[in-house]
Order: sequence, then structure tokens, then C-alpha cells
Amino acid sequence: MTEKPVMAVIGAGLMGAGIALVFAAAGHRVALFDAMAEARATALPRIRDNLKAIALDPVAAARVTLHAQLATAVADVDFVIEAAPEDLALKQELFAEIEDAAKPAAVLASNTSVIPITSIIQRLRNKARALGTHWWNPPYLVPLVEVIRTVETSDAAVEATLKLLASVGKIAVEVRKDVPGFIGNRLQHALWREAVALVADGVCDAKTVDDVVKASFGARLAVLGPLENADLVGTDLTRSIHNYVLAALDRSTAASPYLDRLVEQGRLGFKSGEGFRKWTPEQQAALRERVTNHLRASFGAPVSAGSDDVG
Ligand SMILES: NC(=O)c1ccc[n+]([C@@H]2O[C@H](COP(=O)([O-])OP(=O)(O)OC[C@H]3O[C@@H](n4cnc5c(N)ncnc54)[C@H](O)[C@@H]3O)[C@@H](O)[C@H]2O)c1
Repeated sequence: MTEKPVMAVIGAGLMGAGIALVFAAAGHRVALFDAMAEARATALPRIRDNLKAIALDPVAAARVTLHAQLATAVADVDFVIEAAPEDLALKQELFAEIEDAAKPAAVLASNTSVIPITSIIQRLRNKARALGTHWWNPPYLVPLVEVIRTVETSDAAVEATLKLLASVGKIAVEVRKDVPGFIGNRLQHALWREAVALVADGVCDAKTVDDVVKASFGARLAVLGPLENADLVGTDLTRSIHNYVLAALDRSTAASPYLDRLVEQGRLGFKSGEGFRKWTPEQQAALRERVTNHLRASFGAPVSAGSDDVG
């Protein structure tokens, strides 16, 4: 059996620990680095708990080794995935350190949510092996990973990354241009902008927006993408609808003043008990459970546990 690529993950938080879980469950050895002792101490128990929660053997966590030094974590690996906090200066510094310590052939990826990959890798000497891998939370349940190339990324790095991700059960797609928000977050926030505008304009309240989405096109979205839908109803009808409605849609280029007001009033959502809507602790727990149960029922475990020795 050919040896599976060895992984390093930088940052053992929500995303980093989840990404490490996916590779460990698929039989890869994973070196996990975090600068914070607390994150290192809790990483393996979190990975074990999450493996159990998706009905995989928690023994896979034994393939993950924790590191307090970045250089030792990346020294002997084939792929590095950075999942440190969303801070450009920090990510640039981490990539410079990674480049100095990793093997020349290792592929270097950032899991940034929205920062252009081109900015993050600005200081690298060899930019051809660097790209973005945008995972979704939780990484072991949501199947998509967007693989973002910059103008300097090599085809070989993109292909190796797409192949690796497919081999661990992910749906990996290529983003051909390093545009802000990549694909998924651009689509998601185009919808959220209009959702906020409908409430701000008094068309309906926040619950009604959510009810409309969940009870209509949202119910179909997991099996019917927007462009499949456009073909299904016809591009002629789609054109006609666009010519009537697009001019009426919100086109703001910054966050809505309505959203500004919520933030200024301390209405921060779950963390303050109220955002667009009021949330009791019980309602918050119920919503989180509903989402997790839905994702588990839809996608289950990402890939069956690898058969390698985990000792
Ligand atoms: N949370 C999401 O839904 C989500 C989805 C996709 C992408 N992302 C992106 O993934 C990255 C990580 O997000 P997260 O939600 O896991 O954050 P997080 O706060 O849960 O985890 C970040 C981890 O990085 C560690 N860290 C801090 N400084 C470090 C350093 N110098 N070197 C290494 N590790 C360091 C922290 O201790 C923490 O454990 C961010 O870029 C974020 O934008 C997040």
C-alpha cells in the first residue's frame, strides 16, 4: 500500500481540529500545531468526542500528534493546512515560517474565510505550491472544500490537493480566480444582503425571511443548485424574471445601516441573547441541535476510518 500523504494543520481551534479529524479518520498521520497551550490540551479530547459523535472510532485520534513548535510540526509533511485566526499579518508571518521549515515539495494551504490567498502568501519565495483550501464548519460534516488558485499556483499543486481532498471523502471544487469570498461565501452573502434589506425596508420581519427561505427554495437547495434550477425553469423565464426584479434588489457595497445599529445596540445574536431575533439558551441549543442533526442525516461520516496502525 502506498503511504498516505502526511499532514500538518496549523491552529487547533474549531476548524483546525476538525480538519485534523477528517485526515486522521481517513488514515493519515497529522501533526497539529497551536501557539496556545489551552488549545493543545483540549484538541485531542475534542477530536475524540467529535469522532464519537459521527460514529467513527475515536482511536483515529491517535494519528494526531500535538506540537508546540511550528517548525517541528511542518518539517516532514506533504501538505500544510493553516487554520489560525483570521488576521492577515499573522497568516503572512506563519506562511513565511512554514516555508522555511517545510520540505520544498510540500503543498501549503490557507483555510482563510475571506482574505485573498494572494495577500497571505505575499512573502513566499515559491508561490507555485501555495493555494487556498476553504473548508466549511464543521469540516467533518459539511462536504465542500473550495480549492483556490492564485495566478502563481501550479497545476500540480491544485491537482494534488483536489485528489487528496476527494480521497478523504470531500467534495473538492476548484476556484479559478482568487476573488474575495471565493464562491460559497459570495453566494451566501448575496442572499444575506437581500435578507437584511427586506427587514430594513419593512417588507417583513426576520422570522418571516427565515421561514420563507426554509419553506421554499431553501428546502430544495441541497439537491437543486441555482443554475440547475435556472435550466429547469428555462433560461428564457430566468432572463425575464431578472429583467423585472434585478433593478429592485439591494446593491449596497457595505454592511447595511440596520446591521450597524444592531451591533451598536449590543444585539450581537446568540452571544448576547438577541440579534435580528431574541434567543433564549434553550432556543439556541435547539437550533444548534437541529443543524447538526440535519448535517449528520444528510452527510454522515466523511469517510470510513483508515486501516493503518494508529499506535
Ligand atoms: N469557523 C468557521 O466557520 C470557519 C469556516 C471556514 C474558514 N474559517 C477560517 O479558519 C480559520 C480558523 O478559524 P476557527 O474558526 O477555527 O478559529 P478558532 O479561533 O477556533 O481557532 C484558531 C486557533 O488558532 C490558534 N492560534 C492563535 N494564534 C496562533 C498562532 N500564532 N499559530 C498557530 N495557531 C494559533 C488559536 O489558539 C486557536 O486554537 C480562520 O482563518 C477562519 O476565518 C472559519
